[in-house]
This record gives sequence, structure tokens and C-alpha cells, in this order.
Amino acid sequence: MDLLKVINERRSVRAFKPDPVPKQTIEEILKMAILAPSAINLQPWEFVVVTGEERERLSRRLIKAYKEKQISCGPGNVKPLPKTFAKRGAKTLELMNPFFEEMGVDPNQFINEGSCNFYGAPVAIFFCLDDSFPKARVVDIGLALGYLILTSHEFGLGTCPIGLITAYEDEIKELLNIPENKMVVIGVALGYPDEKSPINRFKSYRENLDKFIRWIE
Ligand SMILES: Cc1cc2nc3c(=O)[nH]c(=O)nc-3n(C[C@H](O)[C@H](O)[C@H](O)COP(=O)(O)O)c2cc1C
Repeated sequence: MDLLKVINERRSVRAFKPDPVPKQTIEEILKMAILAPSAINLQPWEFVVVTGEERERLSRRLIKAYKEKQISCGPGNVKPLPKTFAKRGAKTLELMNPFFEEMGVDPNQFINEGSCNFYGAPVAIFFCLDDSFPKARVVDIGLALGYLILTSHEFGLGTCPIGLITAYEDEIKELLNIPENKMVVIGVALGYPDEKSPINRFKSYRENLDKFIRWIE
């Protein structure tokens, strides 16, 4: 498929079929992800791929942690977000509302518990980074994530990056035996999209390009 078509078509998938993804396919996708450029070609990414019964165990653990701690996907951070950004998050959720209504689900529960459950995807992939790297190396991880989500789309698979799970890093590390000195930067849900689910018809909006650019000529 044409790259521009893939970029235009891809969207985050939030309902998956339970069908397993062949290990070879996951490997082929990750082989493309590691073609991403990285500073001094350090290739700092490390992947933990969780499938099968372990994947179920992971969801149970994360949902339990979410219910105990209630740390959600909300925009909240150390500082309140500037209005421009907060508005975009609120608008996105507002645009999703009709889909939640159609499904008869509570939006917060759907997003937060759904994220902890990788939206039912059969594969959860964690992108880890050794904590001896400076924070700037998260850029390299982001590039690999970008390559992974686009390649997955090309392969007929859906993805949803899951940042929420970083709130439960301790639980993830303990469950998956991830060493203390590795940061869990992002998780990704991977699987075959459930085309029948209304939420997968949702297409997120983008601001006009001029909102992001300041030309200096
Ligand atoms: C770093 C990152 C973290 C994200 N975390 C979550 C998450 O925890 N739960 C979720 O449902 N979506 C998550 N998303 C998906 C975004 O909500 C989504 O990319 C955005 O709304 C734009 O929609 P699109 O991917 O369909 O274009 C995340 C995306 C990124 C890039």
C-alpha cells in the first residue's frame, strides 16, 4: 500500500477480535519498527511482547491496579495543561461521545478500563528504555512506535498506543519481570480490528496546520 494512504487511513483501534496474531507476523512488524532511525544508531528500544494467558493475567492485574489507584487517561499532569491543549483533549472526548452512547458504555470506564485491558487485543507490546539514557531518547522510542503502528495497518492489523499503563509501571515490571533500571515508555494494543464495533468508526480530528506553524522567512 502507498505510504501516504497508510498514514491517512490509520487510526487508533479500540475494539479487537480475539483472533491471535501469528508470532511470525508480530516479528515482521517489529522488524519494520526497528528500521526507525535513532540517535547515533543506538537502537535504544527494548520490546516486551505479551500474548495468550499471560496477556489475560496482565489485564486482570492492571484493571485491579486502576480500580485501586484510579489514575486515568485524563490530561492531568504535574502542571495544569495550557488551555489550547486541554481543549483538544476535551473536544476529542466530546466527539467520541455519540459512539459511547451508541454502545451504551460509560466513557471513562470504556477508556480507562479499556486501556488497562488493551481493548481486548490479543497482543500487548511494551516499549522499554534503559534508564541510563537521557529523556531525549524517548524520541527514538516514539519513532519506532510510529513505524510499528503504520506497518501494522499495512498488515491489516489495528493498534492503539496505551500511555495510561505507565501509571502502573511498578505492577507491569513486577508481573513481567522487567528489571528496575528499565523504563516502560509506552504500551501498544495490537490485533485484528473488530469492524462491527461502533468505536472503530470514530475518526479523530486534527487542527488546521496553521495552528501549529510559525514561519520565519
Ligand atoms: C503516546 C500515546 C499514548 C496514548 N495513550 C492512550 C491510552 O492510554 N488510551 C487510549 O485509548 N488511547 C491512547 N492513545 C491514542 C490517542 O488517544 C490517539 O492517538 C489520538 O486520540 C488520535 O487519534 P488517532 O490515533 O485515531 O489518530 C495514545 C496515543 C499516543 C501517541
